[in-house]
Amino acid sequence: MRIDKLLAHSGFGSRKEVKELIKKGIVIVNGEKIKKDKIHVDPMRDEIWVDDQQIIYEEHVYYMLNKPAGYVSATEDKLYPTVVELIDDYYRDDLFPVGRLDVDTEGLLIMTNDGVLAHQLLSPKKHCPKVYYAKIKGVVNENDIQKFLKGIVINDDYQCQSAHLKIISTTSTESEIEVEIYEGKFHQVKKMFLAVGKEVTYLKRIRMKDLELDNSLELGAYRRLTDEELDRLKDESVLQ
Ligand code: URA
Repeated sequence: MRIDKLLAHSGFGSRKEVKELIKKGIVIVNGEKIKKDKIHVDPMRDEIWVDDQQIIYEEHVYYMLNKPAGYVSATEDKLYPTVVELIDDYYRDDLFPVGRLDVDTEGLLIMTNDGVLAHQLLSPKKHCPKVYYAKIKGVVNENDIQKFLKGIVINDDYQCQSAHLKIISTTSTESEIEVEIYEGKFHQVKKMFLAVGKEVTYLKRIRMKDLELDNSLELGAYRRLTDEELDRLKDESVLQ
């Protein structure tokens, strides 16, 4: 791996800023001061220091983001800013969101560069549970709970897996609910409610597998996953 890329990925700034550090002569590889940014290093074997700080390279990084509305869950977009732009670590040019939330949906989004974990969480065969909080126009009732349990049909002929719908509160004009689903079809929650003649007016993901959205994160804020959270996300025996 090129030394400038490694340092950028390790949080020492953009590739341009990192080149300046190298020029200054404060980057030491295996005891030798280096002056060229084009040299290649092996982050697992070479001992690399910047000033008095040793580089311990992390191949994979994992963040929990509280996605705000107005950002698209992609790495590039022509119309909207992307969720990747919210992560200051974006000089790690390999970060991507694990799955998609609609542009107007808020809440829990895992950002990583670990394709294996992403596949594990997104593969339809794994049935990874996702919980959403939503506001619905009108009254959600027991009948809807039963229809969700039986399996709602969306996209004309796709029968969703049985989903758990919980009513938190309801007035004559609006209901607050939580729903747990096990697939990730495009606009799935909105379509499930449309199928019972109701409209989602606000949607927020609050859990994925057993990872809960950290309520101390403001919209647009993020933090690293803890080792324990990560172990549980990776543990295939933990599903609910
Ligand atoms: N279901 C939706 O309708 N939208 C989302 O963003 C996520 C699930």
